[in-house]
Amino acid sequence: MSQHLNEYQTVIDSIRRIFDAKENEFIPLHAPNFNGNEKKYLNECIDSTFVSSVGPFVDRAEQDLCTYTGSNYAIACANGTSALHIALKLCNVEQGDLVITQPFSFIATVNAISYCGAIPVFVDIDESTLSLSPQKLKSFLITECTIENQTCIHKTTGKKIKACVPMHTFGFCAEIDEIKTICNEYFIDLIEDAAESLGTFYKGKHSGNFGKFGTVSFNGNKTITSGGGGVILCQDEQLAKMAKHLTTQAKVPHAWEFFHDQIGYNYRMPNINAALLCAQLEQINTFIDQKRQLAKKYKELFSKYPGIQFLDEPENQKSNYWLCSILFPNKEQRDEFLGLANSQKTMCRPGWELLFTLPMFEKNCVMTQCDVAIDIQSRLVNIPSSPYFARL
Ligand SMILES: Cc1ncc(COP(=O)(O)O)c(C=O)c1O
Repeated sequence: MSQHLNEYQTVIDSIRRIFDAKENEFIPLHAPNFNGNEKKYLNECIDSTFVSSVGPFVDRAEQDLCTYTGSNYAIACANGTSALHIALKLCNVEQGDLVITQPFSFIATVNAISYCGAIPVFVDIDESTLSLSPQKLKSFLITECTIENQTCIHKTTGKKIKACVPMHTFGFCAEIDEIKTICNEYFIDLIEDAAESLGTFYKGKHSGNFGKFGTVSFNGNKTITSGGGGVILCQDEQLAKMAKHLTTQAKVPHAWEFFHDQIGYNYRMPNINAALLCAQLEQINTFIDQKRQLAKKYKELFSKYPGIQFLDEPENQKSNYWLCSILFPNKEQRDEFLGLANSQKTMCRPGWELLFTLPMFEKNCVMTQCDVAIDIQSRLVNIPSSPYFARL
């Protein structure tokens, strides 16, 4: 065994001890936990027969999300991707427009941009937040863009830059107030892809509440889940009404008539998913406390291994530590660790492939220098991050 492998074996043994895993027991990357009122609310929902488009759990989940995040409005959606799609549409993102985002994100961020017919501009991330870098954003706008009639124009392509979508990676918030200032200066709408950051607060304010819209995912691998689901957060009453309208087939409210005033989407969250979400929301503070305690244990563990860097929460924020991450000195060592951990039922995985390397985007994007993303992507590993996990 190489020197590294010996060290990596002790790390994996320690991770398994933290999770109190039995021999041969699988440790998932992130598992949901259903120890609250989930079954009770699901039964209530089934008994009521209101399992799909409307029902009291949808209204309650939206209200509870406003209370928890401090957002003025919350519109429950089918998933985080549909939430993002609607947010982009409400920022008037259209065929041929440009939308700025980061190359290190889950595919859904850039898929939603493509659903609008828009083209992504990839701007680099910061090493500390793993999210869109305000400095790189500013330098792109200064050198490559101009403002005409309160519209930001990309000089080489002549296209309009309608929106900027930073993503709060693995629950670390981007330097969002700086990004917001820059977007305001350049007349660019800000949408936060907060799919992974429910429970992350930046300077005391919940992530997703800084932009025109923030969107969250409740997929099964997230901090809390509704099975499938998402939410649009926004602060403006008119925009919230328009978001609700578009996610509900653009039906004009009426007791019996079916009049739709534009092309809408069936993007609403079913009541049965909202029932699950209400039960999960009751436990969010416990989940976040436990995830933060886990991060503390990891921080202590990795302080003993100078060759592995545990990514601690950046300044100015309280992170949900959705997925804990470590950095290796290089790709080879990262791959050695991944091979060893996964062969021992300890689920670890690398970050996503960079979005500009994917076939649909490599020739259909605006590129900027993304050295930090390239470096981080080659060295990062996500390690098991459930606060606890259900044993079969
Ligand atoms: C960064 C990011 N954006 C968007 C999504 C899309 O959410 P969903 O899977 O609920 O559609 C996810 C997660 O799944 C995500 O991680």
